[in-house]
Amino acid sequence: MAQIKTQLLTASDKDICTAGELLQRGEVVAIPTETVYGLAADAFDPQAVIKIFEAKGRPADNPLIVHIAAIEDWEPLVTAIPPKARALADAFWPQALTIILPASERVPQVVTGGLSTVAVRFPAHPVAQAVIRAAKCPLAAPSANRSGSPSPTTAQRVAEDMDGRIAAIVDGGASDVGVESTVIDMSTDVPRLLRPGGITPAQLQSVIGDMVIDPAVTAALQEGQVAASPGMKYKHYAPRAKVVLVEGSPAAFAAFVNAQQHLHPTALCFDGEQTALSVPYITYGKRDDPAAQAHKLFDALRQLDDSGAQLVYAACPSADGVGLAVYNRLLRAAGFEVIHLD
Ligand code: TXA
Ligand code: MG
Repeated sequence: MAQIKTQLLTASDKDICTAGELLQRGEVVAIPTETVYGLAADAFDPQAVIKIFEAKGRPADNPLIVHIAAIEDWEPLVTAIPPKARALADAFWPQALTIILPASERVPQVVTGGLSTVAVRFPAHPVAQAVIRAAKCPLAAPSANRSGSPSPTTAQRVAEDMDGRIAAIVDGGASDVGVESTVIDMSTDVPRLLRPGGITPAQLQSVIGDMVIDPAVTAALQEGQVAASPGMKYKHYAPRAKVVLVEGSPAAFAAFVNAQQHLHPTALCFDGEQTALSVPYITYGKRDDPAAQAHKLFDALRQLDDSGAQLVYAACPSADGVGLAVYNRLLRAAGFEVIHLD
């Protein structure tokens, strides 16, 4: 694609106004959110949305999330809002939760990837909200990485992937949560969790009761199986290095990794557990702190690439609470390759 000049904008009122004008003109602008950075365009402008797919190299059948800055802006996007979906929005918006419902006719096909449903999110980040208001339209926005790479959690990481490909990047500091939003499908009889994220299954169940966790959250799709969420069929969150997830106690992990020194691996380990390792390492939060792991994971994966690592042994996180999101992303980064020790 042709190179364009990418403006670096701050979160000042003047720069947010500039971002709004660019979006109104049909340009793509990267914006901070509390989960990860997004690559935004006017959700009602198919030509603008196509530019997102081009900038990311994203397959056209992988739908985008539409971002709003007021709950009432949800109504024109969907055919109806059932009581349980409304209850979720009331309980958790604005936060790291994306809700899927049948799409209204106003939502262009290019946004939904041809599906009959649309995913909507009301982000909590004040700069994301300010840009949506300045653009005066809902914004379609996937994570701001090149397709397949770890999602960016800082403006610098967005620039590495997107400089020369989009009109502007708004710098709103490091994303707080660090992994993408929880995605729940409320268009089916029983609600279905398609992607774990900052809002945990227990939090969702406390509001809506029964819920199914889609099998693709923790297992590879089988040959011929249709993905409930198209994004689940693509390789994801992957650094260039080969990643293998290693499950076991701190001592077992260290013994395993140290015994593989001849393969020159790099360890992705928990804070404090590097002292037992005799190979290079990057840490991603304490073993018992899933929120810190989520916050650090994607940047750690990108640091592994910066370091030139070819083979990474990643210490396996617990899949409880927010940990389910961390585990899900690492499983995909590892192409579902897990070694169980102990
Ligand atoms: O936190 C987030 O959700 C970030 C920030 C920027 O808001 N966005 C994000 O978007 O992660 P993206 O496009 O990278 O991931 C959206 C996921 C994809 O796996 C996509 O397939 C799925 O949501 N999705 C979107 N619309 C869907 C729909 N109508 N039905 C099923 N899955 C859908
Ligand atoms: Mg993504």
